[in-house]
Amino acid sequence: MKPTEPWPKWAEFSLETAELGPDNVQYKKDIAAEYGEAALRKSWLAVCKQLEILSAEMAEKQTSAIPELTYEEGINPSDELKDRIRKVGCFVVRGTIPKETANRWFSDLDNYVKANKERINGWPVESPCILRLYWSRAQIESRTHPRAMSLHESLNKLWHDEEDKEKTFAAPLSYADAARIRPPGTPFTSLGPHIDAGSLCRWADPTYRKVYDAIWSGNPEKYDPLDLTVRKKANTSLFPGSAHSSVLRLWQGWTALTKAGAHEGSLMLYPDIRTAIAYVLLRPFFQPPADKADIMDAEKWIFDVEDPWFPGVWREKSQELRPDAFPHLQMHNGLVNIPTMYPGDTIWWHCDMCHAIELDHQGDSISSVIYVAATPTTPENLAYVQRQLKAFLDGEPPEDFRGGSIERNFKGYPGAKELVLNGDAGLRAMGVSV
Ligand SMILES: [Fe+2]
Repeated sequence: MKPTEPWPKWAEFSLETAELGPDNVQYKKDIAAEYGEAALRKSWLAVCKQLEILSAEMAEKQTSAIPELTYEEGINPSDELKDRIRKVGCFVVRGTIPKETANRWFSDLDNYVKANKERINGWPVESPCILRLYWSRAQIESRTHPRAMSLHESLNKLWHDEEDKEKTFAAPLSYADAARIRPPGTPFTSLGPHIDAGSLCRWADPTYRKVYDAIWSGNPEKYDPLDLTVRKKANTSLFPGSAHSSVLRLWQGWTALTKAGAHEGSLMLYPDIRTAIAYVLLRPFFQPPADKADIMDAEKWIFDVEDPWFPGVWREKSQELRPDAFPHLQMHNGLVNIPTMYPGDTIWWHCDMCHAIELDHQGDSISSVIYVAATPTTPENLAYVQRQLKAFLDGEPPEDFRGGSIERNFKGYPGAKELVLNGDAGLRAMGVSV
């Protein structure tokens, strides 16, 4: 999005519409007691200052802030590229899947959807384009394709775990998620700027909170977003809710099945994974100054742990972000369109990254993707994938998507025979031969 374009009409939120749980204040007090007001304020000031620089940079760079890698670079990134990814936390990998294969997947998926139209759950109800399907042949193949498996392993290795120096965690697992088929002209208002991997649990789960220790301690510059050591044990679904993935995905992502560029129902990202999340975490501890003219002056914000409001937090949903409640993010500058995607390209973003689906699709053809994440082998993830395998064999939606379609009697449902499609790495990723 260019700064001159109108901000999409995503719903705003305010204190009046907030969730004010009786336990909210205690989470703030616990963190303040552990780290102290001085440390929190020190981080707040440093982070707001850093956001000034970042948002000016993004206003200038826009889409070019998102690196575009060849498949070979994705498999074997240079040190320079790794440094850039550590900073921006998102990137495109061109040609992850051969174009002909992606074209075939689109036609397979489209046929599967048409053949079972009446029985498919879609979301949102008023203009369903996220299809709550998990076991079409195209999805199974895309999650376990040999080129995808090699890429996922490489992307997982951008992380590190002090308890696993050999990086055995990097072996990819297959997380079954939905698919999107979005015709032109379909408005989609349901996924404005947000961060997945939970919401209130970032403050409420003591382990999840520990991931951000450097931020709470007054040293946000020392925060390492690619450290798995503590994060692998964090509870992203402490509060139940259909929006939460109970699996840790190091990189969320999707595989493009069709061409789609800016304003064609694609994705927007806020390309930063250190400062924006730090701001989101610190924001509930500070009240804005009374005079709106001072809103960008971080010094004038007032420390307050008695206020139960966590802006953008509804515990059963992902963390919502809107410009009004998070002014220093300067979302109008920082949330940028991803580059034009072509069939077989993949886009990746860190699990703490703010992202949104474009409200409008002004293009002239269908925009379609399959959600495929880079998922590490952690004990919790492995246990989930083994339960997910049972759901697959039963033709039922996976545990994280209980409201999804029951596919076992669908026309064209591939069933267990698809397990043999993609070799050892794919079988392992599906939990068959780990
Ligand atoms: Fe999301």
